[in-house]
Amino acid sequence: MVIPGVPASQPAVDSHLRARLDELCTEAWGLWEQFDTTVRRKEFHPFVAANYESVVNALIANRGPNRRFLEWGSAMGAITIMADLLGYEAHGIELDGALVDTARRLATRYESKATFVHGSFIPTGYQWETLDGDRRTGTLGAGLSGYIQLGRALEDFDLIFGYPWDGETPMMLDLMRRWGSPDAILLVHGIDETVSAYRGGRTLVASYHR
Ligand SMILES: C[S@@+](CC[C@H](N)C(=O)[O-])C[C@H]1O[C@@H](n2cnc3c(N)ncnc32)[C@H](O)[C@@H]1O
Repeated sequence: MVIPGVPASQPAVDSHLRARLDELCTEAWGLWEQFDTTVRRKEFHPFVAANYESVVNALIANRGPNRRFLEWGSAMGAITIMADLLGYEAHGIELDGALVDTARRLATRYESKATFVHGSFIPTGYQWETLDGDRRTGTLGAGLSGYIQLGRALEDFDLIFGYPWDGETPMMLDLMRRWGSPDAILLVHGIDETVSAYRGGRTLVASYHR
């Protein structure tokens, strides 16, 4: 099977796993639409669902033995659960406690070992600042570091995924450069619904797409 956006060398997933991933994508979209109607249309909320097909292709392309995955801002947990189904040790950190509860319920439904913690993916002690001294982090909120609950530091992860709002990517790249493992890959979902891969601040793959 040829999956768009996946390098030819990458083995495709078997049909059973593909069906489970498709089922999860569909269910997650349903949950997102419900959230959009009941929460987002009444007040601002930073949760916007990613293009799951693009993300799945990026996750498939970066699989490997014993890879540890972290989702920054894991919302309803769909992407972290997909990473678990694909064989990663998968964890998500999310600032909104109600979304963490939803993610844990979804993980149970998919018999997933993915874990979710309520807190911030911005580690205690990290400070974002642009060259001209701007410390604003846009829609990225503040809270207790989620790494304490996870019992792991950012540098312990091999693959990190984030979906920043427009203008927030430089902060994510800076955080990875300063606090992540030098070998780790950061996947960033863009507003064009493709996913880019970075290592050490440099682009590895410009676009995984659906
Ligand atoms: C654009 S949404 C992306 C959701 C999900 N990752 C996806 O791609 O479908 C960003 C998420 O990050 C969460 N968030 C914002 N700031 C955060 C922080 N400092 N730590 C953890 N989560 C945060 C928001 O509550 C929201 O659920």
